Amino acid sequence: HQSKSFLKSVFPLKSCTSRFIGRALSQIKYNSQWEKLAKKELRGKDPKSLLYVSPENITVKPVYLEEDRKGKKGEMPGVFPLSRGHYATMYTGRKHTIRQYAGFSTAKESNEFYKKNLKAGQTGLSVAFSLSTHRGYDSDNPRVSGDVGMAGVAIDTVEDMKVLFSGIPLDKMSVSMTMNGAVLPCLAFYIVAAQEQGVPQEKLSGTIQNDILKEFMVRNTFIYPPEPSMHIISDIMAYLSKKLPRYNSISISGYHIQEAGADKATELAFTLADGLEYVDTAIKAGLTVDDVAPRFSFFFGIGMNFYMEIAKLRAARRLWAKLLQERYQPKKAKSLMLRTHCQTSGWSLTEQDPYNNIIRTTIEAMAAMFGQTQSLHTNSFDEAVGLPTEFSARLARNTQVVLQEETEITRVADPWGGSYMMEALTDELEKKALTIIKEIDDLGGMTKAIATGMPKLRIEEAAARKQARIDSGLDTIVGVNKYQLEDEEPIDVRVIDNTQVRLEQIASIKKVKQERNNKKAMECLEALTECAKTGKGNLLDLSINAARARCTVGEISDSLEKVYGRYQLMDSVVQGAYKGSFIN
Ligand code: 3HC
Repeated sequence: HQSKSFLKSVFPLKSCTSRFIGRALSQIKYNSQWEKLAKKELRGKDPKSLLYVSPENITVKPVYLEEDRKGKKGEMPGVFPLSRGHYATMYTGRKHTIRQYAGFSTAKESNEFYKKNLKAGQTGLSVAFSLSTHRGYDSDNPRVSGDVGMAGVAIDTVEDMKVLFSGIPLDKMSVSMTMNGAVLPCLAFYIVAAQEQGVPQEKLSGTIQNDILKEFMVRNTFIYPPEPSMHIISDIMAYLSKKLPRYNSISISGYHIQEAGADKATELAFTLADGLEYVDTAIKAGLTVDDVAPRFSFFFGIGMNFYMEIAKLRAARRLWAKLLQERYQPKKAKSLMLRTHCQTSGWSLTEQDPYNNIIRTTIEAMAAMFGQTQSLHTNSFDEAVGLPTEFSARLARNTQVVLQEETEITRVADPWGGSYMMEALTDELEKKALTIIKEIDDLGGMTKAIATGMPKLRIEEAAARKQARIDSGLDTIVGVNKYQLEDEEPIDVRVIDNTQVRLEQIASIKKVKQERNNKKAMECLEALTECAKTGKGNLLDLSINAARARCTVGEISDSLEKVYGRYQLMDSVVQGAYKGSFIN
């Protein structure tokens, strides 16, 4: 809904495209035999008219030849710089984890949903929490009355977490939890729920998202200001590296950066720059690169630009391995591995003609698998309008099951390796991302870069350019800007009875508070406040005590908020910049 002049100023489409192509032309020399044949087929038109400039400003050629790889050696999977995958055998040795992000309503309903999915071919769990939980509020807090259980499962105490995993053996099942703001109470609940299920913490495998930098950039479920938030992360890394050796302490996420509109080079650069900042944070806190990097994990979005997405994952592995080697010289080989989860793009789903989303998701899932992801979520076709129904979730999951078990795609490690085109795109994305990473270095690292507003501005500019490509018809979205349906068929949408969920959660909080040793609970909360004040002790260790004493998400969050405060985003630097530079 931007004004025409705004869009024109952000992306003067026609002149911009021809300028890029002009620049590209001087760099591109075609094989003369090919050029002659192409000219004939194009009835005299210049073959250079077939060049395509991607949103990353990479010129994709209609054909790639041997000379595009001249002077470059072939690489091997499992061997530095790991572009082709960090294991020699990749999927031929072990297939990726089918890990569907899910959670809604109460812990009981979500638990039933998880168990059904696991029986039907899903191989890992991924918890979606209620927005109220993300922001550290209990379900009885009037501020979040409309949010409880809506876009994820409401978890208030360790009792809810126990119900969430009831009948699921946590020593065998790896569990990812997308939690960043209220990361301390939620991780503590998980560890205590497992212990009370009889599973010691050292046997737990899974991932906590714990990536606060991208929350400040794009996702916004932070609670505390940046500095204490980074302190929380270093306490979590310190605790997990010693006590939960199989657990990934962070999932450094480009997904939300792409969803907010970034092109792939920008997504790649900001994600890796976040990763470097987390290594530095750990080192400042007295840990070593080898204490933390082997349990770093990544998370990328996979959209509809098929080749570019595969190249992005290859470039990501290569660039991370090279940067870690150059900057930190780790001793453990695992420190160099960029292990990643991927999710097909929610942004690419359309409300219009929604069955097309099944096709889109399948293509994106294939790109993720060709890119050698370790774990994957495939979106349901109805996710542009609501949470998945049983039916749409089944189709989404089966997209991966079919790709894994019916297509033989998994029989070859990095099947695109050696393709002139794929190797050239990988090189280009690596180069572009590295240029952006160097800009962030010059600003003093990602925390400082975020404070300047630079990453947010870049993402918003890219989003505006993307929208302009769609509005102008340069990029097609079937059913939206082309081939629209005259009559849309209605589809079933999952409806959550938020009032009922909230009533159940309120009753459960009341019961927990009545049955607990209140004195003990208050002592645990005071210990947390004291630790936040003095910096003495480990916040996750103390949160685990509080979880065991049946303190709630809200209480644990408040005990820290007393010292850290609750962060409010200032009037966006970015909007200010837009106002000044772009809108007449
Ligand atoms: N040969 C030998 N060993 C192999 C192998 C091979 N070919 N392939 C895998 N393995 C081993 C691994 O080394 C690993 O062993 P280890 O634990 O000893 O290291 C084991 O097999 C398990 O394999 P992976 O680690 O590859 O697979 P996992 O599924 O366990 O982990 C991950 C994948 C990416 C590292 C992990 O961090 C993960 O699962 N992440 C998921 C994150 C997630 O689900 N996020 C959801 C986000 S949704 C969101 O943000 C919400 C929104 O706003 C969109």
